[in-house]
Amino acid sequence: MSKLIYIYMFILLVFFATCKKDPAIYVENIYNPTPYKLTYPTGVLPPNIPAENPLTVEGVELGRRLFYDKKLSGDNTMSCASCHGQAFAFTDNNNQFSKGITNEFGKRNAMPIFNLAWEKTFFWDGGAPNLESQIVGPLTSPIEMHSSFADVVEKLKADPIYPKMFKKAFGKDTITSAYIMRAIAQFERSIVSFNSLFDRTYKTQKQREYALQNPITRLDSGFLVFALDSSPSRPNLRPGHCWHCHGLSPSTALFTDLSFHNNGLEDVYVDSGRMRITYNEIDRGFFKTPTLRNLAYTAPYMHDGRFKNIEEVIEHYSSGVHYLNNKDGITRNDFSRPLKLNARDKENLKIFLLSLSDSSLLYEEKYKSPF
Ligand code: HEC
Ligand code: HEC
Repeated sequence: MSKLIYIYMFILLVFFATCKKDPAIYVENIYNPTPYKLTYPTGVLPPNIPAENPLTVEGVELGRRLFYDKKLSGDNTMSCASCHGQAFAFTDNNNQFSKGITNEFGKRNAMPIFNLAWEKTFFWDGGAPNLESQIVGPLTSPIEMHSSFADVVEKLKADPIYPKMFKKAFGKDTITSAYIMRAIAQFERSIVSFNSLFDRTYKTQKQREYALQNPITRLDSGFLVFALDSSPSRPNLRPGHCWHCHGLSPSTALFTDLSFHNNGLEDVYVDSGRMRITYNEIDRGFFKTPTLRNLAYTAPYMHDGRFKNIEEVIEHYSSGVHYLNNKDGITRNDFSRPLKLNARDKENLKIFLLSLSDSSLLYEEKYKSPF
């Protein structure tokens, strides 16, 4: 009898010993994503990455796949990349307006997707307070991807690859709309662009200041038009006042002040812009200041894509600004007389604007479609 007890005890012991965590299984069950390192030049302020959605290699990889996946649209014909193509600095194929899956057009020009980790609000009117929530707009809009999160979640659950990727990125066996939003936002935040001729020419703040004080090249002179307010000491130089809204150090890196302005496109705006969100009459015609980076790839310009090329934009600021009904103090003060740039100023300003384009963004492997 006692022998039997010993045998039982021995069996139990073996049982518990083998029950102990198998190291291989144990490691796999732990949620242990790899932090993703965002690279950007020294001197650029740190990005605004929400603590609840840090960048991880696994999350960014999942987000990239979702961004390029047509399963996210109602009829599987359209992905985010259909309107945000890498060859156009993530805008819509030089189209003024974008066509959704039902062939209907929207009323605004598709915005570029890069350096968004530094931005605070999204859409031309700032209607989305973060990148995560922004995704609800295009995914569900009947004139864009015309889908629903419930449908997308079902499609992704049935896919042979996604469940594993979600598990790696978020450590859970479920696929939810919140994880879809987080992953896509991570991929969008991973897209950076700071490798333009301008960045390579003026590497430090000192070099920028020096160029503005001693303009020699046409690029220096164009930069000066951008950065100048008024200069009694240089009566033959026309100020462009651009920096007020498009940023100067330390935010020069982004070429936007991350705020909303009325740049005087019209006396009465058809699209009320920021007012659509704030309901405040003062915000009529205010739009998010767009970055000036990568303009070479993102034509046409402005919220409604009204200007086909950079010359038309410059002409607007030189002679076309509507300022009388304009509630934006900066525009009223700076453009209350037309800038009247001369031909050489305009040409230099164009050289400067184009110098902000970074062709490496268009070819970067990390941002390409995984399909
Ligand atoms: C049918 C074309 C179309 C599709 C598809 C589309 N977008 Fe857009 N996107 C636009 C347009 C147009 C705007 C500007 C809309 C506005 O301001 O009202 C925009 C704006 C944005 C912005 C704001 C950028 C900024 O600087 O504020 C982000 C981010 C963005 N889209 C991401 C996405 C993601 C992610 C998807 C896929 C889930 C997507 N888009 C699908 C056309 C599209
Ligand atoms: C009062 C603020 C302000 C000033 C000053 C200003 N801008 Fe703008 N800029 C904006 C805003 C806001 C928009 C978007 C307006 C819209 O779409 O309705 C814009 C749009 C642009 C665009 C189009 C970008 C795109 O992606 O569509 C370019 C290019 C541009 N500005 C260049 C300049 C230049 C060059 C100067 C100086 C001559 C200048 N801006 C001065 C606020 C300003």
